[in-house]
Parts: sequence; C-alpha cells; structure tokens
Amino acid sequence: MCGIVGFTGKKPAAPILLEGLARLEYRGYDSAGIAVFKNDKISVKKSCGKLQMLRDLINDGVDFDSTVGIGHTRWATHGKPSDENSHPHRSQSGLFAIVHNGIIENYASLRKTLKKKGYTFLSETDTEVVAHLLEENYTGDFFETVSKTIAMLEGSYALGILCKNNPDEMYAVRKSSPLIVGLSDEGNMVASDIPAILPVTRKICYLNDNEIVHLTADSVEIFDMDKNKIEREVKTVEWDVSAAEKGGYEHFMIKEIMEQPKALRETIAPRIKDGQIHLDGINLTKEQLEKVQRINIIACGSAYHVGVVGKYVIEQMCRIPVFAEIASEFRYADPIIDENSLVIIISQSGETADTLEALRVAKKQGATTLAIVNVVGSSIANEAQHVLYTWAGPEISVATTKAYSTQLALMYLISLDIAQKLGRVDDKYVGKMLSSIEALPEKVEKILKIAPEIEEMAQRYAYLEHAYFLGRNLDYAVALEASLKLKEISYIHSEAYAAGELKHGTISLIETGTFVVGLACTERLVAKTMSNIKEVKARGAEVLLLTCEDYGVHSEEVDHILDIPTTHELLMPSLEVVPLQLLGYYIAKARNCDIDKPRNLAKSVTVE
Ligand code: G6P
Repeated sequence: MCGIVGFTGKKPAAPILLEGLARLEYRGYDSAGIAVFKNDKISVKKSCGKLQMLRDLINDGVDFDSTVGIGHTRWATHGKPSDENSHPHRSQSGLFAIVHNGIIENYASLRKTLKKKGYTFLSETDTEVVAHLLEENYTGDFFETVSKTIAMLEGSYALGILCKNNPDEMYAVRKSSPLIVGLSDEGNMVASDIPAILPVTRKICYLNDNEIVHLTADSVEIFDMDKNKIEREVKTVEWDVSAAEKGGYEHFMIKEIMEQPKALRETIAPRIKDGQIHLDGINLTKEQLEKVQRINIIACGSAYHVGVVGKYVIEQMCRIPVFAEIASEFRYADPIIDENSLVIIISQSGETADTLEALRVAKKQGATTLAIVNVVGSSIANEAQHVLYTWAGPEISVATTKAYSTQLALMYLISLDIAQKLGRVDDKYVGKMLSSIEALPEKVEKILKIAPEIEEMAQRYAYLEHAYFLGRNLDYAVALEASLKLKEISYIHSEAYAAGELKHGTISLIETGTFVVGLACTERLVAKTMSNIKEVKARGAEVLLLTCEDYGVHSEEVDHILDIPTTHELLMPSLEVVPLQLLGYYIAKARNCDIDKPRNLAKSVTVE
C-alpha cells in the first residue's frame, strides 16, 4: 500500500527520497510524488504511474538542492489514480505539504466545514483535508499546529508534514499505520518500512501509535499526543541493503522461494535446543492452556492459509477445536471469544488493517493472544500478548513465499508445544516430530533442485484460462495457497476445491483440457483423492498430480506427476507448497507478468 519517506539532512533530499520510494515500490502503488523546499516555498512534484515517470519529470531530483523533503507512493483508495490525487498535498496557500498513509474517517465532515470557510479542494482524497486543516489551525507554532490538527482526525494515519516557515524541520505522526525513524550523521529519516532508509542508515527507532516525531538534520525527538517527550531506544537493523535487493535473480519472488531453506533454518533452529521446544516470547503455562476451550487462528491472504493448515494440525495433535478465520470476516462476526479462548494471529507485515483489528477485538473480549509476525516492531507484534517472530528476513515480492513457509514452521512448533504441555502427545512423538521439523530445510533444498523441470512443465500451462487445485484435508489447505499464488501473479482464473466437494457443483466446469492440479500428499487420503482425480480425468481434464513416490500412484492415472520427498504426514504442507510456488512463478514468467508487483495488489494492506 502507500509508502512514505521523509528526509531532513545535510545533503540534497530529492535523490534520497526517490531511492527510498524505489524501495517502497514493492508495497504496491499507482502514483508517486515528492515535496522539497525551493525559493522559500514548498515545491511539489507528482505523477500518476510508475516511479520512473516522476524521476523523468524531475530529472532524477538533481535540480533540487533542498536538504529537507517528503515523498510518497500512493495506492488509490479515495479517488482514482491521477496526478491530482497523488501525494504530497498542499494546503490552500502552500503553507503546508503533507504525505499520508491510512484513511481519515471523518474527512467528509471536515471537508464540508473547510469548504464553508473558503478552502478549495483540488483532489478527491481524504488527505487534502489534513493539509487545509493544518493551515486553518496554524498558530505560528509548527508543533502546536500539528498537535491541534491531529486531535481533530479520526481514522488511521501515518503523516509526514512540512511547513513553509520551518524549512529545516519536519513532523511525522503515527496512528495505526506503520512509520519508523532512521538516524544517521548525514541526516534523519522517516519511512513506512525499513528498506526505504537502508541506503542511508541501519539505525532505527520504532514509533508506537499516537506518537509525533520532530526531525531536523541533527535531532530526532519523539512526543506523545500530550506533547510529553518520550525516550526511545535506537536499534540496529540486522540485515543490510543487499537483503532487500534481487542479488542476481530475475525477480524477488524466485529469490525468496530459493531463500526458503535458510529462512526455515533461521526460524526453526533457535526454537529447538537439546531436543526441547523453546518458544521465545511465549510463556503459556500448562495451567493457562488447560483453560483453553477453543483456538481461533485469524489472518488474511496466505497467512490465513497457514491458519487452515494449523486447524488440521492443532486439532489432530492437541484435540482442541480450532477455527481458522479470515480477519475481515471475524472482526464483524460478533465472535464467540472469551477468556477461555486462545487467539493466534498470523501476519507477515504485522500491519494488515483487518488482522490488527481482529486482534484488538479478541483482546477486548478477554482472549489470550499470540501473534506470528515477520516484521519486528510492527503494530501486531506490539499489541499481541505473546509474539513469535518468523526470521524470514525482508520479503519484497507481493506474493508471499518464505513468510508463508516460516509461519507454517512456527505453527507446527506452537502446536507441538501446546500438545506436549497438555500431555496429549508423549516425549517419543515430540522427539520424532522435532527431528522431522529440523530436517525440513534440507528437504526443501532438494525440491528446489527440480525448478528447471517445473519451469519446462510451466510452458505448456502458460496459456490456460482456468485452473483447479484439488485436495483433501492438509492437501486442501495447501491447494488454497497454491491456487492463490497462481492467480495473483499470472492472472489465470484459479480455484481451490476440497476434492470431495467438487461433485456438488464445480465439476460441471470440467471439460476437455481443463487444467487440474491434484494434491495427493496426505498419505491416508491418497486413494480417496485419486478417486476424485479419476472423476475429472474421465471428463477430459488435464491433470498434474503432486504426490510422493512411495504413495503408489501409477503414472498412467494422470497426465503428469511431480514427486516430492516424504516427511511426517502433518508436515507435508511445508514440502508440497514449494513446487506449487515454483509452478505459479514459472507460469507467470512464461506469460510475461509483472511478477513482483501484480496489478492492483499491495504487499501490506493497511486499509480495510
Ligand atoms: C496481502 C499480500 C499477501 C498476504 C496478505 C496478508 O494481500 O499480498 O501476500 O498474505 O496481504 O498480509 P500479512 O502481512 O498480514 O501476512
């Protein structure tokens, strides 16, 4: 979604802002702009379309010598993608310029009031209201004006604010929308995500909600909404700029697929010591767990698909009822959650608006909350009672791969930990499972070696219009993810179906040549799944089957077979998802799609 970057420093801001925006492109956007000081005024330059159009418009920023500025990539919410609706927005007389992420919920009433006072609106955005409101509230004191203005706003916002009369300063505000601060001798920065500041510094401060930050070239001060100063620890980002670059790969997605063995190792290894599970950040006791009557796993997108695997795994290991739920549905469902509920929240970014709100609903109703998150210091990590980080490193491709895989690994460990604490499994079972979990990275490495074979196979499916992924139980959970992966990056219409459910309607869509991917990796259900596969085969479908060599499927039963190694049945999703990620990737590549930035999608969905 939208990206913010701001710089107050000792060298020209514009090239730094453009570089920062380039590193936020992955979040998804449809226009970009910057504001810098020029001739005692705030100069705003913006353009609909790719960042390159803005670069061309301002000659890569070389004509600006201002050392202070703000930049923005916009993902349209209020108002279509256009030059007018792009950020930064200026106030009526040009006194203020702002960039904004999030949604100002009371913008309509504010707009009406400001219009009555003579303000003219040039855009359809909710953001422009804030710019004019700053001007309306201007007291001559920048800080006081910012503080008075944000007190009048409802909704979510990260803001970067410049004032014409204070050319050496910037204010930024965070409320329910991510914003971090970068500190360096060359200057200080704000940004919605770490990659944007990495070319300048690895020293960062996390901002919490309802905090205001004041930046100059030499200072950073953080305040609460009552203008009290807050001390904040400076942290060093462990990864450097190369971790957020393609490193020779054609796309971030394939780089991240290939990084999965490493990401899995880094996520798993610290959590298994001397044959025991060590879940740092979680200290749920046996007594607490004994009170748990139901578990809800809540997330969006691929993270929700991890939840669907989690449902099958936890129910089988722990014999506790589990409900995997989509966050945007859960939050408005009047959910049955209380102090006997354990709510597991899953989110790569830790900022997904619906997931964050679902967490708040669950907490409010007394549930114990546990979050699986990739981004350190994100809102969900800050607000959940227990947090477990996936050490996947930065994930840039919109279509998630290594975050999904590491979330899954943690789901297994959490499930095993609960089962062990409740005495639902014995030490022998735990030992065997832990060895199998530790062996996953190596098995994934082995599967990645068949990438060329999958690339070749993908050529024949590149011009299809429809695809169906069928599986039962855990295979169905993986089918959901595989189907989403294919459709989001290749734009092929794709559906995942529980194999046994197909007969109740969807089989009417199967005709000669329809592409079906069968998943038969849940050993005890292979025969059942194969009977459904035969049903579609009999109706002319072209079937690609994912299975394990030992499961005895005959090659003549389908058109193509992809064999993968085996592991414990409950862990199979960790292996079977990998060739299907590759399949989606190579089909999209053969179709020449913009794989890392699929149309209309955003990496981090910070609006409802
Ligand atoms: C977006 C991304 C998906 C992701 C989902 C949830 O739709 O494109 O890849 O699974 O958001 O994001 P989260 O950051 O909460 O895991």
